[in-house]
This record gives sequence, structure tokens and C-alpha cells, in this order.
Amino acid sequence: MRKLIIGCDHAAVELKGQVRDHLIARGFDVEDVGTFTSDSCNYPVIAHKVCEKVASGEKELGILVCGTGIGMSMAANKHRGIRAACCSDTFSARLTRLHNDANVLCFGARVVGMGLALDLADAFVDADFEGGKHQKRVDMITAIEKGAFEELA
Ligand code: RB5
Repeated sequence: MRKLIIGCDHAAVELKGQVRDHLIARGFDVEDVGTFTSDSCNYPVIAHKVCEKVASGEKELGILVCGTGIGMSMAANKHRGIRAACCSDTFSARLTRLHNDANVLCFGARVVGMGLALDLADAFVDADFEGGKHQKRVDMITAIEKGAFEELA
């Protein structure tokens, strides 16, 4: 069973729950790291919980939802090995898997509605990295992260 992990801040509790339940109903193993209430919380804390497990390989893909998706994506992309994409259209959610090998999807509960959120999640988890010419570019991203870009450019 494919292992996913999902998290959100207080702005996205209901939408995150709907996405989680949808993916579980589709047969995925989905860990939900919260938050679970409307009490204000700090999105980097949740982003860190999700990204630690994706970067370690314990989970295959992660999904992070906040008000805009932007804060979550900024926090996520500070983690080594994480390629997070903030998307509000399904074309981008699919292509970021195919071309960028994104491993975390972010979106905003104040930006997208429930129907689009489910479609974004589906587009993301159903697409696989194409490799080929895209591999070198992803390797360059990793090299930037490691401070070794000059060796690859
Ligand atoms: C919380 O109000 C909001 O700032 C947060 O959910 C997110 O949109 C940040 O990027």
C-alpha cells in the first residue's frame, strides 16, 4: 500500500480531512499529522513533521494545506530532499510529478474548493516522474541544495 502523509494548519482542517478521507477511500495508507482544531498554530511545525518523513523515505509523498499553500511550500522547501510544489491547477499538480519529481504537494484552503482539492491530490499521487532529460535538472536542484552546483552546471 502506498504511504502518504498529510498535514495542515488551522486554516485548512476541514479541507485536509476531506482530502485525507478521499485518499484513504482510494486505498492509500495516509498518516494525518494534524492539526485537528481551529486553534491557531504555526504551519512550519506541521511542514516539518511531514517533510521529515518524506525526506527519510518513510512516506512516499506528502500533502500540506494552509490558507494559501505558500507558507507550507516555503517551509517544506527548506528541507533537504524535499521538492514541494504549491499548485492550484491540476495540470501543474500532475506536471510537477512528471517533470520535477515533486514529493510534496501544497495548496491553499482559502484558494481552492473541495472539488478542486480532491482533483489536485489525485493528479499529484497518480503521476510518476518521467526521468530522462528531467533527471539532470532535478539533480541540479539537489546540487544547489548541497552547495555543489558548480560541479554539475
Ligand atoms: C494563517 O492565517 C495563514 O497565514 C496560513 O494558513 C498560510 O496561508 C500561510 O502561508
